[in-house]
Amino acid sequence: MLIDSFNRELTYLRVSVTDKCNLRCKYCMPPEGVSWLDHDQVLRNEEFIYFVGLFVSMGIKKVRFTGGEPLVRKGFIDIIREVKEKCPDLEVCITTNGVLLEKYLDELALLEVRKLNISLDTLSPTLYHEITGRDYHARVLNSIRKALDAGVFDVKINAVIQQHTLKELDSFVDYFEGENVSLRFIERMPVGDLPVDDDPFVSSDQLIDALSKIGKVNRAMNVDTSVAMMYDFIPKGSAVKMRVGVIPAISHKFCNSCNRLRLTCDGALKTCLLDNSEYDLKTPFRMDSGEQVIKDLIYEAVRNKQKEHKMNCFTDTNRECSAITSSRNMSKIGG
Ligand code: GTP
Ligand code: 5AD
Ligand code: SF4
Repeated sequence: MLIDSFNRELTYLRVSVTDKCNLRCKYCMPPEGVSWLDHDQVLRNEEFIYFVGLFVSMGIKKVRFTGGEPLVRKGFIDIIREVKEKCPDLEVCITTNGVLLEKYLDELALLEVRKLNISLDTLSPTLYHEITGRDYHARVLNSIRKALDAGVFDVKINAVIQQHTLKELDSFVDYFEGENVSLRFIERMPVGDLPVDDDPFVSSDQLIDALSKIGKVNRAMNVDTSVAMMYDFIPKGSAVKMRVGVIPAISHKFCNSCNRLRLTCDGALKTCLLDNSEYDLKTPFRMDSGEQVIKDLIYEAVRNKQKEHKMNCFTDTNRECSAITSSRNMSKIGG
């Protein structure tokens, strides 16, 4: 078992399989883009499979594959297949921007990947282009539609909260009313080397306030809350209950109950999204240093996992917070 110095059991590993992405979200990458890692810096399929297996043998029960965008990695489905063969009891989940998702849905269903978190920041194609730099809005909506229609996936929609989100809540509610889906609005975290953002920070409380103006909001208990605070939401004039939540990463941090580790695509172990400490697992693996050396590094990392993140961003620009966590952009961590 992996238990840290604050008695938290770490059972959830987020694995970023690539730093590449087919979008350029403003809060994730600088406008000029980022330089991709060299091919051999990135773990090979068999290395991902080895590391996932090792973590599972140490107590990890759930893996979420992330990116960049995981579906742009060639052979990504093969990684899932082999991980599933090697670790049949492991819960395997994916976070994706949805651009390429449609064509993989059948395979994912066959592989019993059930939990799909799909990013969708806006229902406006124009705004989507402004945020992501690309015109893939229709494709993402289509992937979401197909994923919902398949009826086998647990779909969560992730929207990073920006100023326009408050105005768009009605559209989100109209669009998803009656669907078996969770809507989650995420506080924007100023991670990495990004230009000053002129879009002021919007807190999850503001989001919930705005929501309560357009319907009835009740805190939901006993749901798979993870990092999210979920609510039962009934839009005004409707009888349909929706699952809507916030991920208040900054304003009400959830570090107390954190159960996460992260493996970056270049083989570094991170014990916190918002801490720059990294433990290089790839080098000892490639040097054939032996499994015990790698396990010892993992135990050391776990022992040193920080109690909580230090971000506290209620300024207009979030500039001072960025400085704390500038070692990697979000796309190189995987959220
Ligand atoms: P499930 O709990 O399995 O649904 O997944 P998730 O919500 O952890 O995963 P997802 O990739 O959908 O992440 C949603 C948002 O939560 C993203 O913006 C992540 O950056 C953020 N997030 C995920 N894990 C952490 C964490 O450990 N700390 C912080 N601060 N944010 C996190
Ligand atoms: N703050 C909050 N969430 C972010 N994501 C990417 N960058 C940020 C950020 N700076 C989200 C994506 C995706 C998930 C992996 O992380 O929108 O849903
Ligand atoms: Fe790509 Fe996700 Fe970053 Fe957007 S947030 S640029 S989809 S990695």
